[in-house]
Amino acid sequence: MKIGSGLFSIFCLIIIIPSILLIYSMNYDTTGNIGIWLTILVTIIDIVAVVMWVWIYKRILVPLDKLQIATKRIADGDLDYQLDERDFSEIPFLYNDFERMRIKLKEDEEEKKLSEDAAKELVSNISHDLKTPLTAIRGYVEGILDGVASSPQKTRDYLNTIYNKTNDMTSLIDELLYYSQVAEKHMSYKYEKIYVKEFFDEYVKDLYLELETIKIKFEYIVDIGRNTVIDMDKEQIKRALNNIVSNAVKYMDKEEPEIHFRVTETSDAINIQISDNGRGIDEKDLPHIFERFYRSDVSRNTKLGGSGIGLSIVKKVIENHEGSVVAVSKPGVGTEVGIELKK
Ligand SMILES: Nc1ncnc2c1ncn2[C@@H]1O[C@H](COP(=O)(O)OP(=O)(O)OP(=O)(O)O)[C@@H](O)[C@H]1O
Ligand SMILES: [Mg+2]
Repeated sequence: MKIGSGLFSIFCLIIIIPSILLIYSMNYDTTGNIGIWLTILVTIIDIVAVVMWVWIYKRILVPLDKLQIATKRIADGDLDYQLDERDFSEIPFLYNDFERMRIKLKEDEEEKKLSEDAAKELVSNISHDLKTPLTAIRGYVEGILDGVASSPQKTRDYLNTIYNKTNDMTSLIDELLYYSQVAEKHMSYKYEKIYVKEFFDEYVKDLYLELETIKIKFEYIVDIGRNTVIDMDKEQIKRALNNIVSNAVKYMDKEEPEIHFRVTETSDAINIQISDNGRGIDEKDLPHIFERFYRSDVSRNTKLGGSGIGLSIVKKVIENHEGSVVAVSKPGVGTEVGIELKK
């Protein structure tokens, strides 16, 4: 029996039984005194029963009904379905517990979605960055096969760079494996104290060779103390730099291409500037280039492949180092990307 109809039957009995007794006793009451008192009593009982029924119906049965509807909606996945607090003034604990459950489920759902999005983003970022060393390796191997590496020293340099590029790829794949095994919510960074000058000297060695093979003039200026140290994740910073340089190469349109790499320091920061004399970026595109999947109309209309995520990776890596990245550009003249990393 349902709770509503059960209660209704009880209230009917409360009203009907005294009424029957009243009628029955009136038949035997000769004085009429008992009849008056019984009538008053039965009327009071009936009124109380009706008032109680209405109260229980409105304050308990209707809210329970609403709770049942809400539970069904939540079970069907509608976690935004909210109860009206005013309906539960007599049973506030039910409303509070239900709301707590709904909010917790909603938070869990959002967190799950966020970590799924983060996983998707990580996989697409790594796939994107794997392309860069692969393209370079293919270039060097072709260089060796075509005899561009004319001396044994050159061949050794090429092979060394291929070796370094495969190391870059290994760390990217390790990152992917680490993520899939540990299933962490956020990508973990491996911060360590790095001697900045040594790091950049090493980084540009490969870069110099790489740009030389594609006939881009490269200038490296470093004005940093030997002992300057910052906390960073070397592999991630390399990824960011690779993305900036690969843009400088990809969007180059000059007969005499140039890329300049400058690293300087102030009392509390390291500044890195990478500039090119490529085709530059339109004023209207410049504020958006760090957004994920943003590509200027010019980029989209050319055959230069790309998904528009390179600079969003740069931004993420630099911001995770609590640094900042900006770009200035003049269409037709060139682009400069500046990074500041706090000491
Ligand atoms: N050095 C540059 N010179 C000219 N345009 C640039 C330069 N760097 C970035 N851009 C512009 O900014 C856009 C976004 O760059 P981003 O690296 O994020 O994506 P992408 O290079 O188009 O694709 P992806 O890096 O995913 O292969 C580019 O499409 C291009 O229009
Ligand atoms: Mg790019």
